[in-house]
Amino acid sequence: MVTTAPEAPVKVTQTKLLINGEWVDSQSGKTFDNINPATGDVIAQVAEGDAADIDLAVQAAKRAFDEGPWRTKISPRKRGQLLFKLADLVEQNAQELAALETLDNGKPISETTHADLPLVVQCLRYFAGLADKVQGDVIPVEGKPGSMFCYTLREPIGVCGQIIPWNFPMLMAAWKWAPALAMGNTIIMKPAEQTPLSVLRMGELAMEAGFPPGVINIVNGFGETAGDALVKHPGVEKIAFTGEYKTAQLIMANAAPTLKRTTFELGGKSPNIVFADADIDRAVQGAIAGSFFNQGEVCCAGSRLLVEQSVHDEFVEKFKQAAEKRRLGDPFDPKTEQGAQVSREQFDKIMKYIDIGKKEATCITGGERFGDKGFFVKPTIFTGVNNDMQIAREEIFGPVVVVVPFKDVADAGAIANDTIFGLAAAVWTRDISKAHRIANTVRAGTVWINCYNTFDAAAPFGGYKYSGHGRELGKDAINAYSEVKTVWVNLKG
Ligand code: NAI
Ligand code: MG
Repeated sequence: MVTTAPEAPVKVTQTKLLINGEWVDSQSGKTFDNINPATGDVIAQVAEGDAADIDLAVQAAKRAFDEGPWRTKISPRKRGQLLFKLADLVEQNAQELAALETLDNGKPISETTHADLPLVVQCLRYFAGLADKVQGDVIPVEGKPGSMFCYTLREPIGVCGQIIPWNFPMLMAAWKWAPALAMGNTIIMKPAEQTPLSVLRMGELAMEAGFPPGVINIVNGFGETAGDALVKHPGVEKIAFTGEYKTAQLIMANAAPTLKRTTFELGGKSPNIVFADADIDRAVQGAIAGSFFNQGEVCCAGSRLLVEQSVHDEFVEKFKQAAEKRRLGDPFDPKTEQGAQVSREQFDKIMKYIDIGKKEATCITGGERFGDKGFFVKPTIFTGVNNDMQIAREEIFGPVVVVVPFKDVADAGAIANDTIFGLAAAVWTRDISKAHRIANTVRAGTVWINCYNTFDAAAPFGGYKYSGHGRELGKDAINAYSEVKTVWVNLKG
């Protein structure tokens, strides 16, 4: 059962907009309710920005880029030092930030403490370290040696709009802030309306770290108003977006008239492939992580579990038992493994897909809500699934996994690729060549062999096909936040 903590587990310190280094109300004076998904109760009223606030934020970010200290007066090393300072402050306040994330998103405190926060700190430090290591090239061009000198510079793009979802709010902010700032861009972040709190707290820590006014701006509000205004604003030169592919299609069209650069990290229906020669117990654990981690609200969730026919029944039985052992409940209980779905809307969407699934296939466990308040869904497994069914093709974004049997390596590869998405894939086998064959066959941005959901700030992440374009993390993220300038020097006397 879900119990409401006797007193608020963490204090909300910030609910305003961050524009030009100041915490301000929205121009309209409007606010929106911020809901605790574990109880359905209102946590706070958050300032609701729209086009007018976005315009002020863009002006501030443009000034900080064009005239302010950021691009022209601060060395890349100093930018790195500010990011290191922010990482230290996040680390010092990790417990509070983890609690805030759990309160706002509904995910377990064990996860925010041991996954989200350490990854945020790692990401900030990785790009802090990269800030003074971005180099251009000297280009060997036509002509007598010594007659022409040609070199490249890697420069920031300018004002970047960053729109993030609600499943890993602070981590998605870190993935977007860190490379953009390391490279010398200025940013306007539009967090998801479901989860505004942790990014605001990170904004407070950024101000404490000493980022100059206008370099980091945060405008909460809705996608159709604040998000839309950011995408269309002529002063914004790049949009980085994480969320649903249908939103990305709209953003791409709306960004076209101003020819903005775009990077998109979108959803998936990632195949998690279990061969008969795998260590089955490890594969079961991998399937649990792939299906149910973060309540299944993970862009790279292994929500299509492809299992070789000869071990199908054995595997499914063990997987079902493991799923039924998962501890659901109060996200603030340190023993809880699965918390609440983020919102009523998301809960309803998942339940709708479960109903569709029950008509198409066999639900062997779960298939219903957990408890009687908040937005909890039991771990749900469907068998008897064929890859053409709706529950095998569409992203559900909840703790719902479909099991699709396959015959051999070729069959597994074909089913794995029979999707519009291409974010991730995993393969479980003791046969090293089979593993690499699948890694080469699958059209996806990340392939995990005998593991699932491993991340590192140094390892690029992103999608093929409808899962997006561009890469986050690693050195590729620096490319996505920079322009290349070619300089020619005539050395002839
Ligand atoms: P969404 O893609 O609509 O929202 C993500 C962000 O985009 C939010 O900050 C939102 O305010 C903003 N946004 C929405 N419409 C916009 C517009 N027209 N212009 C600019 N910004 C806009 O995702 P939503 O509605 O929260 O969830 C719907 C489904 O998307 C989920 O059920 C799930 O399947 C998928 N999703 C995938 C995510 C991923 O990481 N791949 C993350 C969140 C949702
Ligand atoms: Mg939406």
